[in-house]
Amino acid sequence: MSDFANLTNVRDTLTLANGVEIPCVGYGTWQTPNGGVTRDCVKAALGAGYRHIDTAYIYGNEAEVGEGLRASGVRREDVFVTTKHWVTERGYEKTLAAVDTSLRLLGLDYVDLYLVHWPCVAKCTERWKELNAETWRGFEAAYKAGKLRAVGVSNYEAKHIEALWETAEVKPMVNQLEFHPGYTQIENVKWMQQNGLLVEAWSPLGSGAVLKNETLAAVAAKYNKTVAQLCVRFALQMKVLPLPKSTNPARIAANADVFDFEISPEDMAAVAALPQTGFSGFSPEDAPADAIA
Ligand code: A2P
Repeated sequence: MSDFANLTNVRDTLTLANGVEIPCVGYGTWQTPNGGVTRDCVKAALGAGYRHIDTAYIYGNEAEVGEGLRASGVRREDVFVTTKHWVTERGYEKTLAAVDTSLRLLGLDYVDLYLVHWPCVAKCTERWKELNAETWRGFEAAYKAGKLRAVGVSNYEAKHIEALWETAEVKPMVNQLEFHPGYTQIENVKWMQQNGLLVEAWSPLGSGAVLKNETLAAVAAKYNKTVAQLCVRFALQMKVLPLPKSTNPARIAANADVFDFEISPEDMAAVAALPQTGFSGFSPEDAPADAIA
């Protein structure tokens, strides 16, 4: 399947620019702890039907993501696994090593998607373009070596993508952004979509901060759905791939149950118009110093 029309469950796929198929809802693991929690949650998500797991080196839980995958009994080739390169590993050689470290921690010989976690930006160093380009060259080498089935970025704005294009041989296929009612970055999202990048949503539930919003509660009630389900559905109808996360098995399953209703155009407009709510405070230019160093 190549677009967001007619999706019927979380296993249905979208097609990336290089032809790789990506299941339309992913299970997110940011802030999901170790000690067995991540392992059990990943297993629960796969048991609930998810076939797409999103992690990152900096989450510190790649090893347990791999354990959960193996414990689930689902075949490796049937699961789409994303992880992300951390900001301390910029540059060509360090990026190649970072790929191998993540693969070792995950216990995998390839990942389906590898993302640059944050761009290096101008206020960090005047060499920001070169540093991003060198990192990307490492992505391209690992992609060509078959360690990465697809490559992309996260938290990029148009200017960062345009700078990358100046030297990229392989264009980024995905940009993962904070996206939820109350913080849609709509201009950034549209630019990415118009330029062939699939947009993924981190914190599609606003990290829980939008779940008590009265406007959203009223809209969700019309469809006999929870606000969390409304948020996941809202992302899909905006042609954005949501990565909801929960550590509760019932909520993990409920967050995938979003294919039996359609939000009307009027309600989509009302949800999209929500004033800023639940913004994480992270943006590429104002990210914490260690995220742009
Ligand atoms: P919990 O793990 O206790 O379910 P996001 O995906 O936007 O980052 O949001 C994650 C937050 O939303 C977590 O705090 C999670 O808590 C909470 N959450 C996830 N799904 C639901 C749900 N269906 N109902 C209520 N809270 C939820």
